[in-house]
Amino acid sequence: MRLRQRQSPLRWETVSGYDALSERAAERVLGAIIHQPRLVLGLPTGRTPEGMYAHLVQHCVGQERCFDGVKTFNLDEYVGLKPDHPGSYARYMQQRLFDHVGLFEGDIFIPDGLAEDVLADEPDLPMHQALERECERYERAIADAGGLDLTVLGLGRNGHIAFNEPGSPFDSRTRVVRLDDETRRANAQYFGNGDVPEWAITMGLATILASKSIVLLASGASKAEAVARLRHGPVAESFPASLLHLHDDVTVLVDREAARLL
Ligand code: GLP
Repeated sequence: MRLRQRQSPLRWETVSGYDALSERAAERVLGAIIHQPRLVLGLPTGRTPEGMYAHLVQHCVGQERCFDGVKTFNLDEYVGLKPDHPGSYARYMQQRLFDHVGLFEGDIFIPDGLAEDVLADEPDLPMHQALERECERYERAIADAGGLDLTVLGLGRNGHIAFNEPGSPFDSRTRVVRLDDETRRANAQYFGNGDVPEWAITMGLATILASKSIVLLASGASKAEAVARLRHGPVAESFPASLLHLHDDVTVLVDREAARLL
């Protein structure tokens, strides 16, 4: 982790709209893969990166092993959902990226909100302990891969990144967290507007900050306040994204709507 105490080094890029943002984000990922074919990539879910994934898939059409050698680590996953549940991030990623870019199954990592491998080894472990072990395994897997090289993030309206809600410690690692009601409401569309799980596994803020390079995406008017807070607010655990001011290689990629309060 490279920390700087002086003026924020965030690089801001403003593009016209959602499609330009998606294309630019995909370019950053593809550029990183060209530069470093064994790239370790941190990946987000949610509405914002859907366009980026569509551009990546489009780029890979006709190339059999487009992401050959790349390892991916998703930022988070709900607790209690099977990977084929329509609301799970495993399913989201399968549909939007993994099925289309020729990644090896062994190079894809998503926290397991059922801790199935842990429980296969130790069937008597209480669920909360099994989930804690899963979090430790996830941290180890990132370390074994050599650490994250590039991590793409979305931005929650309350400033959350991954599922690190306001108040998350800056030194947090992968762990089980309880989701804010606002976050659950924001994600209800993936559950047919039904119940969104209350618990999730998320990479911690320190895990994310250890990524060598970070790109944060924000699109649309609903993110404008959070974007302005990121730009002008203090570095504080009450606004998790503000932690990014402490890293020296972060690009904040926003479209005009998201940037309208700047
Ligand atoms: C979700 C995800 C985050 C995502 C954020 C914003 O809850 N866990 O990783 O970045 O909220 O989502 P959206 O892009 O849908 O606004």
